Amino acid sequence: MLRLEGTRIVLGVSAGIAAYKAIEVCRRLVDAGAHVAPVLTEDALRFVTKLSFDALASEPALVSLWDGPDPSPHTRLGQSADLVIVAPATARVLAKYAAGISDDLLTATLLATRAPVLVCPAMHTEMWEHPATQDNIATLRRRGVHVEGPDVGPLASGDFGAGRLVAPERIVDAAVRVVGIRGSAQDLDGVLVLVTAGGTREAIDPVRFIGNRSSGKQGYAIAHEATARGAVVTLVTTVDLPAPIAAKIVRVESAAEMQRACEAAAGAHDVIVMSAAVADFRPKQIADQKIKKGDDGGVPLVELERTPDILAALGAKKRSRQVIVGFAAETQDLVANAMAKLMKKQVDVIVANDVSAPGVGFEHDTNAVSILAGDGTRTDVALTDKRTIARAVLDEVVRMRSLH
Ligand code: CTP
Repeated sequence: MLRLEGTRIVLGVSAGIAAYKAIEVCRRLVDAGAHVAPVLTEDALRFVTKLSFDALASEPALVSLWDGPDPSPHTRLGQSADLVIVAPATARVLAKYAAGISDDLLTATLLATRAPVLVCPAMHTEMWEHPATQDNIATLRRRGVHVEGPDVGPLASGDFGAGRLVAPERIVDAAVRVVGIRGSAQDLDGVLVLVTAGGTREAIDPVRFIGNRSSGKQGYAIAHEATARGAVVTLVTTVDLPAPIAAKIVRVESAAEMQRACEAAAGAHDVIVMSAAVADFRPKQIADQKIKKGDDGGVPLVELERTPDILAALGAKKRSRQVIVGFAAETQDLVANAMAKLMKKQVDVIVANDVSAPGVGFEHDTNAVSILAGDGTRTDVALTDKRTIARAVLDEVVRMRSLH
């Protein structure tokens, strides 16, 4: 099944030099199975032609509220859309959308839809960083609009900075994320899943911390996959990555905050996936003030203490039929160490990765794991993207739930 099969997408194109990339976005959305209805602003036609979109999209591109046979094209487009994308979104279109001004077909469609909206800003750095634009983006985010980009890179006039439209493939990936993957097995329908993601930061003083290299990508992939399979997800996270629209996000920083959030939520969840990289040690004392270097060349001694083991605490309080998954980052004796962890922490599944292997684990987009279950089952997943790993982990969760 194609990634966007059966999805109706309005692709809004406003007047930026990056409008030429929207032609590629249109093509890729159609290739991914979406029905694409392009809506161009009048000024976008200064950069690209309507014909390019007519040729590639699923229906002819529209520009005006008034020209076509349909007396109300904005409501037809808005009401039938599963997703509205604006790429590129100029400072002007963002400002109009934030202010609720609907003086052309694109902005009228944005107001006439209840579908999720994804905007991909593109403009010069000064315009992007202007407080007016930043306020507008903050307003739109607060209303639930998804924002992808902009990237930092070379800009049209030879300048370099923030304001570059994100790559077409990223826009398609974001679209898939926002609408959720269609046609996934709904084998977690209504199941309450708690996922943790990212590495914790343990403060030394008000400006310094001890952290680790976890990106949180594996946890977010699990949250997205669980959502696509019908789960109701709570994501306790230390990082800001695009999350499933429906997920409840609990933002934390330290192991102690993560512990509080997990312990408060654990009892209400059917499945817990502890993919966060929780610090094992933290400074015993957090200095109230920034530690000064001083003139004597001395260095401070930071005494560490153990953090609470959140997973073990959740395992000890596990309620019947709950499935708990832990992760293990090993560099040797992978299976033996992971199985020992499973027993010690009283969890159902351990996802073990050999972090010494190339392309595996922290900071990578790929991972390779052995999924070990309490009943002795072992599933090896060779190096692949983190979404595929997430799928395998949740397959194992579904199997464990069926055994209860
Ligand atoms: N974990 C936790 N609380 C901690 C430390 C880890 O909940 N204070 C969780 C992690 O989220 C992960 C699993 O426990 O699911 C990892 O177990 P851990 O014993 O920390 O394994 P490693 O970090 O791999 O460490 P080591 O082998 O050094 O014990």
